[in-house]
Amino acid sequence: MATSNDPARTLDAATARMLLDRARQARARAYAPYSRFPVGAALLAEDGEVVTGCNVENASYGLSNCAERTAIFTAVAGGRTRFSAVAVVGPQDDAPCAPCGACRQVMYEFGPDMVVVLPDSAENGGYGVTTMRDLLPGAFVPARLEHP
Ligand code: THU
Repeated sequence: MATSNDPARTLDAATARMLLDRARQARARAYAPYSRFPVGAALLAEDGEVVTGCNVENASYGLSNCAERTAIFTAVAGGRTRFSAVAVVGPQDDAPCAPCGACRQVMYEFGPDMVVVLPDSAENGGYGVTTMRDLLPGAFVPARLEHP
C-alpha cells in the first residue's frame, strides 16, 4: 500500500508515462556506436517544461556523456535549474536502467527531491518510481564547500 512518503503519490501516472515516452523519443537520438547501449532521459522542470537528453559517445571512449547529464546540462543552459521528476530509459522498454553514480551526483545538485521514473515489466505496472534521495544517500552538497 502506498504511504504518504511514497514517491508514486507525488507523481501521477499520466505524467510518469508521458516522461517515459519523451525519454524513449530522446533515446532514438542516442549516439552510441561503441557501446550500442542507447539511453534517453526526460526531465520535468518546475515550470512544467520537459527537457530531454541522450547519451553521446566518442571515439575517445572516456569522453562519452550519459543521457541524464546531457538532459541536465541542456536544461541549465536553457535557464532551468529546478526539476521535480526525471525518467530514464535504457535499451529495454520493460526493464529499469539505473542512473550511474556520476549522473546521480549531477542530478541531485538540481533536484534532491526529484522523483525518478524507470521502466519496468508490464506485470509490474510498466514502470517504477524512486527518488534522488534514495538513489544517492549522503550526496556531496554545495553546503559542504563552506569551510573555515
Ligand atoms: N549511460 C547513460 O547514458 N546513463 C546511465 O546512467 C548509464 C550509462 C550510457 C553511457 C554509455 O554511453 C552507455 O550508456 C554504456 O555505458
